[in-house]
Amino acid sequence: MLVSAKDMLNKAKAGHYAVGQFNINNLEWTKAVLLTAQELNSPVILGVSEGAGKYMCGYKTVASMVTAMMDELKITVPVALHLDHGSYEGSFKCIEAGFSSIMFDGSHYPIDENIEKTRELVKICKDKGLSLEAEVGSIGGEEDGVIGAGEVADPKECKAIADLGVTMLAAGIGNIHGKYPANWTGLRFDTLDDIQALTGDMPLVLHGGTGIPDDMIKKAISLGVAKINVNTECQLSFAAATRKYIEEGKDLSGKGFDPRKLLAPGFEAIKATVKEKMELFGSVGKA
Ligand code: 13P
Repeated sequence: MLVSAKDMLNKAKAGHYAVGQFNINNLEWTKAVLLTAQELNSPVILGVSEGAGKYMCGYKTVASMVTAMMDELKITVPVALHLDHGSYEGSFKCIEAGFSSIMFDGSHYPIDENIEKTRELVKICKDKGLSLEAEVGSIGGEEDGVIGAGEVADPKECKAIADLGVTMLAAGIGNIHGKYPANWTGLRFDTLDDIQALTGDMPLVLHGGTGIPDDMIKKAISLGVAKINVNTECQLSFAAATRKYIEEGKDLSGKGFDPRKLLAPGFEAIKATVKEKMELFGSVGKA
């Protein structure tokens, strides 16, 4: 059964570790993340961007696939199915499709409009027992056409959104989706500290988990980050393993072209990346 992310994140914040959100793109991705979470006895959040939802034939298909797969694979660790960077309309579609967690990304609206729309979704999600993530100060880089400029959030605006009763809060602290450029100056821990001072027990979310050095991840967790999103890193490890298989000509020998063989190294590579991140974030054994 899918669960809201509320309990797992409150436990993570109190226990000084973070739960990984791993974005899914297809059946192999979903299976790799679920099996790794179960093997490591870790809670997990499956992230679905609007683009990935469309690619996987819509949110209902995704929700059905995930719940059926959990049943067939006998997954017993807590799993939240979460809309990633949802639009206002997309949030309602996912609530209807059976997602257990929603991110409404109103960071591109003027703050008052972000507050009003988030307030409305807080009420709906509370009534339905779903967790809700809100965002202040857009995340840098590009994800599914949503472009942010590496903004740093205003802690007072973070408090205004946190006070609405959201479950978790994503705040820009110089983080970027995708690979970090060579001239990246690192996370703004001063801002993170100020945000945590004003938002107290609220679990904070770090987007753009790919490529952040381990010591910065650990420091962010020590300053109140309880959810870390990883997407690109699984894509890169999947692509590298698939490239190696083909460059070694393995698809040309015997039945190596069988998709179950062709996609197997990439599948194992995703599992290895998810394991590495869960160990780093400290969520192993916390289910
Ligand atoms: P990366 O692709 O940089 O890992 O970021 C993922 C993310 O933040 C999803 O919202």
